[in-house]
Amino acid sequence: MHYFIKESRKYLDSFVEQCCINKIPYIKKGVLNIEAFYWWSLVGYFKPDVILESGVAYGRSTEVLARAQVFFNIPYHYAFDVDPKHYKYVSKKIESYKTIYQIKSSVEGFNEIKNSNPKAKVVSIIDGPKSGGAFANVLKSLSKFPNLCAIGCHDCMPTSRIPPVLKSHCKSLFPERHLMFTNKEINRDIQFVNDYICDEMGEKRDELLDRSNYVGLCI
Ligand SMILES: C[S@@+](CC[C@H](N)C(=O)[O-])C[C@H]1O[C@@H](n2cnc3c(N)ncnc32)[C@H](O)[C@@H]1O
Repeated sequence: MHYFIKESRKYLDSFVEQCCINKIPYIKKGVLNIEAFYWWSLVGYFKPDVILESGVAYGRSTEVLARAQVFFNIPYHYAFDVDPKHYKYVSKKIESYKTIYQIKSSVEGFNEIKNSNPKAKVVSIIDGPKSGGAFANVLKSLSKFPNLCAIGCHDCMPTSRIPPVLKSHCKSLFPERHLMFTNKEINRDIQFVNDYICDEMGEKRDELLDRSNYVGLCI
């Protein structure tokens, strides 16, 4: 088993307490709790200076990471989305946190942060863009950070478009890093975290629950 999977379980109790019992309701397009748990663990394990998030939509992952920022005392959490449609809704939802949320492409946002804080220790979570080329461009912009700790992605089912892009780009951009994908077997012990939200998912519930097992981690 990859060392990070073992390490991640040390953050399970805090995740359940902070994001399951103190619930973040499921929202359309949002990450499920298995995925959110890995983002939470990456932040807890690496304790970066900066969390960089790409793809906010209605902001479920954003609220998880906003809580992680407070819980683990992380100086900065930046969240970017190109689409302004949910700006008001998300801004209101996260107003009590310290997250800096901007309507901007992540490549542009990440580059600005790299220029203003070049030595920052960074953990990045990518949940959009989903198309191969745009996703690869976000990876390229992350490769310019000299202190990148880890990248977390999801929707990494074997049939998805994301794993091949991750495999080829992580190999060329981050040759010293290990890329791994979680699956149902690896997540057998944490299936229960989705119970906190599974009644809210509607007709796509089974598909979403299944999909949440496939997380990509470049560490
Ligand atoms: C699946 S949704 C994100 C869901 C969110 N992470 C959550 O858990 O609630 C994907 C989002 O990625 C955004 N996106 C697509 N391309 C982007 C880019 N180049 N930079 C930033 N955001 C992008 C889309 O506008 C969309 O809102």
